[in-house]
Amino acid sequence: MRTTIKDVARAAGVSPSTVSLILNEKPVSISHDTREKVLRAVKELRYRPNQLAVGLVTKTTNTIGLILPDSNNPFFAALSNQIEMRLRHENLNVIIGNTGGDPKITREYLRIFSDRRVDGIVLAQLDFEDAEETVKCQELLKDIDIPVVYVDRVTDDGNHVTVAVDQTQIGYLATKHLLELGHRRIGCASGPITLNVNVQRYAGYRKAFAEYGIPVDTELLFCDTLSIECGNRALPCLLGQNVTAIFAFNDMIAYGVYKECRSYNLSIPRDLSVVGVDDIAFSDIIDPPLTTVAQPICEIAEHAVDGMLQLLQNPKGKKPISQLTPILKVRGSTARIR
Ligand code: RIB
Repeated sequence: MRTTIKDVARAAGVSPSTVSLILNEKPVSISHDTREKVLRAVKELRYRPNQLAVGLVTKTTNTIGLILPDSNNPFFAALSNQIEMRLRHENLNVIIGNTGGDPKITREYLRIFSDRRVDGIVLAQLDFEDAEETVKCQELLKDIDIPVVYVDRVTDDGNHVTVAVDQTQIGYLATKHLLELGHRRIGCASGPITLNVNVQRYAGYRKAFAEYGIPVDTELLFCDTLSIECGNRALPCLLGQNVTAIFAFNDMIAYGVYKECRSYNLSIPRDLSVVGVDDIAFSDIIDPPLTTVAQPICEIAEHAVDGMLQLLQNPKGKKPISQLTPILKVRGSTARIR
């Protein structure tokens, strides 16, 4: 049986309200002896406040739910760390839900966090490969009356605090860099092409080719998953198309290309140039260090938390939509065509 505040008050010989004042460090005059008696009773009875009961009184739980599609991916690990650090600085705790990109699990977490009365939700995926699943999540969100901030895999349905990165610019920077190095047979190793981030990265690829007046060969688009395995599978297919460079739609895919190049005795960048996306932790450590288009993770987190704080202050207030700029980081995995 869980110890209650009444048990502590009885043990210390004071009222429950006195216990509450002491535990919440309210600035009221209470004798040192009384404080000591209460704190001793708390320790002996191993009392922990019932946050659900506290929430019913204060109407807040000081908790934010963070829903991620893939906490195994260092991009999302870094993003959640940044968001959590900033929210903790605002005395807000974070509960993380990892969905594996499954829209049904995403909806489950939306219901769980809403039922647990979190104060707000940061949602890193409202866009799914199946457009019908995206609509189902949007419909569910209409019934959830708590602040939601959308980051990363967002949809452009407006009227929500949204923090996105210019995904088209990501594809454009990566492809333009390879075109400037003389590459023309540039393969794309992509995640599902029905996911907005991939659609827009490929649009950036096409934009760069259009600027060069070169038609795009759609045979050079390999669609799979945003994972290392995609890189393993993409390499033989794209080598069969005589590519001299590969634009991997995230760094994990690029790592898979690196790994598979060993099986083909290919040297990066001598035999094949590779560009990634995200600039995750290992990308400047691997050999050769990966040329990649960095997403401003700290900035994403900062905008997401600022947006959440604004919504908590004024749920009916303006809903800023931020589009952040990616940065090309040229390292050792790209070189001029031989
Ligand atoms: O690596 C994971 C990818 O999916 C990132 O590029 C991020 O944009 C997410 O959508």
